[in-house]
Amino acid sequence: MDIRAEKMGLDPDTLRQFLARQYQAAAQPPPEVQTAGPAGTDPPGTLREGLEFDLKPEELITYLDQYVIGQSEAKAILATKFCTHFNRLRLPADDEEELVGNIKNNVLMIGPTGVGKTFLIKLIARRLGVPFVKADATKFSETGYVGGDVEDLVRELVREAAGDIGRAQYGIIYIDEIDKIATSRNTYGPDVSRSGVQRNLLKLMEETEVDIRSPHDIASQMESVLQMQRTGKAERRKVNTRHILFVVSGAFSGLEEIIARRLNRGQIGFRASAQPPPEPAEGARLVSKARAEDLVAYGFESEFIGRLPIIAVLDELGWTELLEILRNPKSSVILAKKRDFLAYGITLEFTDEALQLLSQRAGEERTGARALVGVIEKVLLHFERRLPSVDIPSLKVTREVVEDPTGSLRELLFHHSLSRFCAGFLAAHGIRLEFPPAALAALRQLTLARDLPPEELCRQLLADYGHGLRLIEQREFAVGPQVLHHPQETLNELIKEFYNRRR
Ligand SMILES: Nc1ncnc2c1ncn2[C@@H]1O[C@H](COP(=O)(O)OP(=O)(O)OP(=O)(O)O)[C@@H](O)[C@H]1O
Ligand SMILES: [Mg+2]
Repeated sequence: MDIRAEKMGLDPDTLRQFLARQYQAAAQPPPEVQTAGPAGTDPPGTLREGLEFDLKPEELITYLDQYVIGQSEAKAILATKFCTHFNRLRLPADDEEELVGNIKNNVLMIGPTGVGKTFLIKLIARRLGVPFVKADATKFSETGYVGGDVEDLVRELVREAAGDIGRAQYGIIYIDEIDKIATSRNTYGPDVSRSGVQRNLLKLMEETEVDIRSPHDIASQMESVLQMQRTGKAERRKVNTRHILFVVSGAFSGLEEIIARRLNRGQIGFRASAQPPPEPAEGARLVSKARAEDLVAYGFESEFIGRLPIIAVLDELGWTELLEILRNPKSSVILAKKRDFLAYGITLEFTDEALQLLSQRAGEERTGARALVGVIEKVLLHFERRLPSVDIPSLKVTREVVEDPTGSLRELLFHHSLSRFCAGFLAAHGIRLEFPPAALAALRQLTLARDLPPEELCRQLLADYGHGLRLIEQREFAVGPQVLHHPQETLNELIKEFYNRRR
């Protein structure tokens, strides 16, 4: 045991204690997650035949169109390449493929923030029903000691596939912020480490076998020691990455300048270096001309870029597209907000005018659809705070609400409070009260001056009106401003008038 501990770089006592605890707990053996044998031991063809897949690119595009606005080029590229990748796996493995190797359609997505990169891949993985893992390139370090180890992604895929290695081997791994592991731009620590991460990823993207137990995960290493003691043999369960599809993405700021330089070089020679950097709008168009050599100039190893034969460029979203996102009944932005309010029993509705204004505002922020969430939150936050404690069952977000949320909330609370008073008055005295505009204006002033809600204020001001109005046989009564300013005198006048008329 001690030799084993030493091999594992562990203190023998720690290992002994751990094993003793494990033996106690091992009245029941630990649950096995894995049912399939180690990769490569399945009878040939099983995995391929077990994979049910017959989706066609256009069907996938139609599915994506329901959720993702714009980005038609990226949709077409992604849907086609993903479908082909998985459909191709249905073909029986043949010797020729073994010989010439398998060229995978790993994808590089370039696009600014919040335009649908992650969204598209998530939707595709969901539709295809394959396990999916997402990570940020910034969290990896070359050695795996400081940050994560790129191989952890494959292990995570196995977890996503509920331990089914067979399914994990056909999963999708999505790595965001890939531009942060480009070497030339020295912003995140030493470059050696970043090119090291690129090289590690390279191996995964090509084909390699990953042990499902991490060398850095002591508990799982110990478990394997335990298992060896129990069964007498070391089981090595591995995942082959040959059919795992890799998608990497990033904003690649500054790439347009590299492309512009290349294009200018081609056209007008050395004088081009004096050219100013391209305008942002022009930049977006330039990015769609990105080539492998530009990405190498950006700071990627050419072997790394070589494993990413498919490039999909996503465009910035204009305000009309943002509006379309909001109008889409499947828009998660609106649905999420409706659910927030529904949690308090409040139904939320938006007028189209309000949506237009919101999308224009979001467009100014240039953070894509992410800005929509921000602008909506900004408008609705105070409603979300106040409405749950006053029983208002619904909120209609109109243009006015977007333009002046604070004022609109004050109005809403004012009218709600007043109508509660009127309803109570009707119930108690059988008299329907009405407040014409002049009275509302006066009441608003008084509520501000006395710092009381209308319901409380009216209860005080009109305390004698229930009895008084019944006396003068009123079933409906329009409250004038003079009633609010001089309630007692006005009521006396009314009663006097009534009896005078009767005489
Ligand atoms: N084109 C789009 N159509 C509809 N909804 C979108 C679109 N783009 C983004 N969204 C919405 O915005 C959210 C955020 O988008 P997403 O996560 O895809 O951004 P991203 O492009 O990955 O940005 P980042 O680079 O910041 O990660 C999505 O969950 C989705 O609700
Ligand atoms: Mg993303």
